[in-house]
Amino acid sequence: MMDNIISIFIVLLNLILSFGQKLSCTYANNEEFEYSCYMTIQNPDGLNNFTDISGEHLAGRSDYDVQNIIRTISSKSINVPSIICNKFQNTKTFAFGSIGVERVDENTFDGCKELTRLWLYDNKISYLPKNIFDPLVNLEDLAISNNKISSISIEWFTNLVNLEVLYLHNNQIEDIPKKVFRSLKQLSKLYLTSNNLKVIHSESFGMLPNLKEIYIYINQINAIDERMIDLTGVEIIDMNDNVCASGRIIDDSATRQSMRNALQRCFDNYKALFPETTTNPIATSFQTINGESNLPKGCFDSYSDEKGCSLQVENERLSK
Ligand SMILES: *[C@@H]1O[C@H](CO)[C@@H](O)[C@H](O)[C@H]1NC(C)=O
Repeated sequence: MMDNIISIFIVLLNLILSFGQKLSCTYANNEEFEYSCYMTIQNPDGLNNFTDISGEHLAGRSDYDVQNIIRTISSKSINVPSIICNKFQNTKTFAFGSIGVERVDENTFDGCKELTRLWLYDNKISYLPKNIFDPLVNLEDLAISNNKISSISIEWFTNLVNLEVLYLHNNQIEDIPKKVFRSLKQLSKLYLTSNNLKVIHSESFGMLPNLKEIYIYINQINAIDERMIDLTGVEIIDMNDNVCASGRIIDDSATRQSMRNALQRCFDNYKALFPETTTNPIATSFQTINGESNLPKGCFDSYSDEKGCSLQVENERLSK
């Protein structure tokens, strides 16, 4: 208890001492995060020519021991200076959320090959260089939610073979390029809520063996290729509040049938927009929907008719 109070006091004291420095670390052992740099950065001009990061290491510690870089709440920077990754090459966490980042220069993360968590949420990023995440082969958790991203580069995620969770919600993404997630073989959760998506293609989420949850509610989706449902292993697809599924399709009064009906238009619209898909056998089965037996196999069979059910698609049933 006393130790905690003393270390909080030291952190505060260092914060005060670092006032006026553009880039400084207050080093501390954090129970959850191990040896960490609590970074204060004041870089409203987006300079990237820093030659030093001030701050005194704890006894016996060096740059190579730093496991986490966590910005202090008073920080402000419109970029991510490359000196950080070049100095702290073993860092696992890089938390740079909510400090006004507008751009990330090429090669910014080249020094951070051990990163498992990269948090850039709640900034003002509208563009990222196409190879920006290439060095991050160990990354498990990437948050670029709450930014101003309108298009996803087909190159961004190519090397992220260990990524498990991808937060892209609250942006202005208009399209999911086909196969953009193709390398993410470990991806389990994908958050695309609150974007400007209009169409879901069959190849948007396919070939991802570990994908379990997809959140795409609050978009403008008007059409879904029905082959999209052929996602082995997916357990939750939340599609509330889209154009072709207007209103709450999952709420207390939702029934299996009402949700099926609500989403049906998504698939019909896709055929209208992309008529060539009518040749696929699943599409054909969609054209004659009269009752349970003609519904796309297993599509929403795991909906519960009970109150409070959630939109869950169990693909085990799909394959039966
Ligand atoms: C970095 O660039 C700025 C603006 O060009 C300049 O004023 C500053 O002296 C430079 N700093 C270093 C350390 O080179």
